[in-house]
Amino acid sequence: MPANSIDRPPVVDAGPAARSPFVRLAELLADIAPGKPALSLAVGEPQHAMPGFVGEVLAANLSGFGRYPAGKGLPSFRKAAADWSARRYTLPRPLDPEREVLVLNGSREGLFSAAILARRLASPEKQKAPRVLLPNPFYAAYGAGAEAAGCESVPLPLPEGGGWLPDLDALTPELLNRTVAIYLASPANPQGTIAPRDYLARLVTIARAHDVMVLSDECYSEIWLGEEAPTGILEVAGPDYAKVVAFNSLSKRSSLPGLRCGFCAGDAAFMEAFAEFRNVAAPQVPEPIQHVGIAAFADEAHVTASRDLYKAKFDLADRLLAGRFGYSRPDGGFFLWLDVSAVGGGEQAALTLWRREGIRTVPGGYLCRSDAQGRNPGTNYLRVALVHDLATTEDALARLVVGLS
Ligand SMILES: Cc1ncc(COP(=O)(O)O)c(C=O)c1O
Repeated sequence: MPANSIDRPPVVDAGPAARSPFVRLAELLADIAPGKPALSLAVGEPQHAMPGFVGEVLAANLSGFGRYPAGKGLPSFRKAAADWSARRYTLPRPLDPEREVLVLNGSREGLFSAAILARRLASPEKQKAPRVLLPNPFYAAYGAGAEAAGCESVPLPLPEGGGWLPDLDALTPELLNRTVAIYLASPANPQGTIAPRDYLARLVTIARAHDVMVLSDECYSEIWLGEEAPTGILEVAGPDYAKVVAFNSLSKRSSLPGLRCGFCAGDAAFMEAFAEFRNVAAPQVPEPIQHVGIAAFADEAHVTASRDLYKAKFDLADRLLAGRFGYSRPDGGFFLWLDVSAVGGGEQAALTLWRREGIRTVPGGYLCRSDAQGRNPGTNYLRVALVHDLATTEDALARLVVGLS
């Protein structure tokens, strides 16, 4: 067995997996006045202009608010999501909108409830001590999903020098034989790592060999900062998408976090059971919202403009943060993941920035769980969301440098 292998959960972190980092942040900063006009770089909530057609499409479809929407989503929405996927990715074959696509009320609720279904569908052998694997750091909904599913969540270390991706060699058969699902985000939140195609292909092969569902969080798929668009997991999951579901959303792609519209696509057998489960358990998506989704997936101009704005903000970061806090331009996403060990670690840095500069950021440790030795891989880091316009971002980065100096 390799030295870095995992055959039991290395979790000793206090508290539930499902605690919100933002609630913890509110507790940390409670009763402390911001030193300057407050600016939040904490929540990953894009503040770019939303596409111009949103109001128009809503107005044209207002009567839809008078109907309960079908759980699966409008056929026209599912077709729009399938068509977009076929344009965006090199798929082994087009998705079948009827059997392989479901609308979501944003990707979060889908990511959460998929763990519950993965556990339900798992073999009797796996039911004895079911586990869900998470990257570490991870999006809190994965931990909440694992918890709601009655599964032990196993945070996977992201080895140094391993590009911040879980080490696939550390997934032992002993662990995988008890695992019902694995979550992965590419581009990752917060590090922005984009999983290479061969990594994704290997993950799918390993998961299939051990009957593990791969829940691939692709909500940052359209925010890449280099030349190449990220590979989607469905591209390497041919011919039938077995054991794989990809999740996407308009929150980041179209700067519509308040719209609550996304979709998931993949394994037809899983999707059939998911649709049935969601019919009694999940929030539906109002029809007018789905019509906005159809229009948004048909338009790339606003997506390109938004991506260019993120690139311009990272050009600023390249200039202002060069040589500081271990900064290097991420592959994708819109977060800075700064090594602030020299200024006391993530919590201390978040406190200092708030007190001195009024800037709200998230201590990296709040996005992670501790390992068996009690080490939290995020302790030395600070997450900073570059979600504002260029001028606000320039000002914020300058304040960040001053505040932490
Ligand atoms: C990694 C990751 N996944 C999923 C989501 C959920 O986004 P939404 O529910 O708006 O699609 C977020 C939101 O911040 C995220 O950062």
